[in-house]
Amino acid sequence: MPKVLLVVGHPDLSRSKANKALVDAVRELAHVTVHDLYATYPDFRIDVDAEQALLAEHDVVVFQHPVFWYNTTPLFKQWQDSVLTLGWAFTMDGSASRLAGKKAVVAVTAGVPADHYTPEGSNQATIETLLSNWHATLRLCQFDIQPMVKLYGTAFGLSGEDLAAAAKQYNELLASFAA
Ligand SMILES: Cc1cc2nc3c(=O)[nH]c(=O)nc-3n(C[C@H](O)[C@H](O)[C@H](O)COP(=O)(O)O)c2cc1C
Repeated sequence: MPKVLLVVGHPDLSRSKANKALVDAVRELAHVTVHDLYATYPDFRIDVDAEQALLAEHDVVVFQHPVFWYNTTPLFKQWQDSVLTLGWAFTMDGSASRLAGKKAVVAVTAGVPADHYTPEGSNQATIETLLSNWHATLRLCQFDIQPMVKLYGTAFGLSGEDLAAAAKQYNELLASFAA
């Protein structure tokens, strides 16, 4: 059965509403490994070998985080810088990386509602445009990039019912990778 690694980059899941709800919705799936970066590395000292071993033994990688200033969170950026090394995560000679062909999903929560993430909205761009560095990074690493999971309005606008529906959809998506 394909194995899913859910890498979570929330600074404190115990104080989270949205990211915690998403993680809790998939925690019990047998083929899903939840990897909480901030809980694992409170000192920001990332064990690169352990991280690469985790990536190598999974078929699907989900990168989940709240949007902070149109970007990922600081430890997740450090994780990218440390773990995605030349010759392992990406190559420059056209040869296959160790991540080639694995499915990748970026799953983000954003404070403001979806209409802010349009060319006409307050952010004047879609969330895919603003987070396009994720796409470029995953493409260079030769991942098979899946559509982004987006949960908007976590600071205002998102009802309890909306959050429950998003959590259910997330469960269904990650469950679907077991097939
Ligand atoms: C430092 C910081 C920066 C943020 N930047 C953004 C942002 O650029 N865009 C946005 O939509 N929300 C932004 N937010 C709101 C967070 O995305 C929101 O708090 C988060 O999705 C809530 O998730 P949680 O319930 O799991 O903590 C920011 C929040 C913080 C603390």
